[in-house]
Amino acid sequence: MKNIAIFASGSGSNAERIVEYFAESEQINVKLFLCNNPEAGVIQRAERLQIPLIMFDRPAFKSGEVVKILQENQIDWVILAGFLWLVPKNVVEAFPNKIINIHPALLPKFGGKGMYGHFVHEAVVENEETESGITIHFVNECYDEGGIIFQVSFPVLKTDMPEDVARKGQVLEHTHFPEVIERTILAST
Ligand code: GRF
Repeated sequence: MKNIAIFASGSGSNAERIVEYFAESEQINVKLFLCNNPEAGVIQRAERLQIPLIMFDRPAFKSGEVVKILQENQIDWVILAGFLWLVPKNVVEAFPNKIINIHPALLPKFGGKGMYGHFVHEAVVENEETESGITIHFVNECYDEGGIIFQVSFPVLKTDMPEDVARKGQVLEHTHFPEVIERTILAST
């Protein structure tokens, strides 16, 4: 059984989809949520889904305390599902090619520091892009720069507002993220 921990800073809709997807899995177990934002909606989702959730702050992330928690819980893979902080070196080194992130654009476009959530979709509309999409990638010490695992695009219409782009992207995230995680984990065992 491979144990995964999901890091989230926001609503947690992807985290919930992943829990649902692996609910009956014999090979992959969603063991833990970790959260860095006391206002995050994912906190309520964890309660409802009965998944243990651990809050942490920047010092704990940088000091190795979060890695210690992951190791004590026999976590094998770390999934970032709407997690906004840069992952520090001590975490990346403890889980080499075992940290997966989802970004709501076609990286390398519209990625990097500060490019998250509505900022991404506003930039896509601002740039009059005719398509956008999602990217699932391995995480290294730089924002959104790890090896790309999966991308899928969707058309952006002239009439689309940022929230339309966000909605189209989330549908694809909820459809693809869990199965891409599964394929990636099972391919590496
Ligand atoms: C998603 O759009 C994801 O691409 C980005 O943050 C958002 C998380 O949404 N990384 P949710 O918290 O999973 O609903």
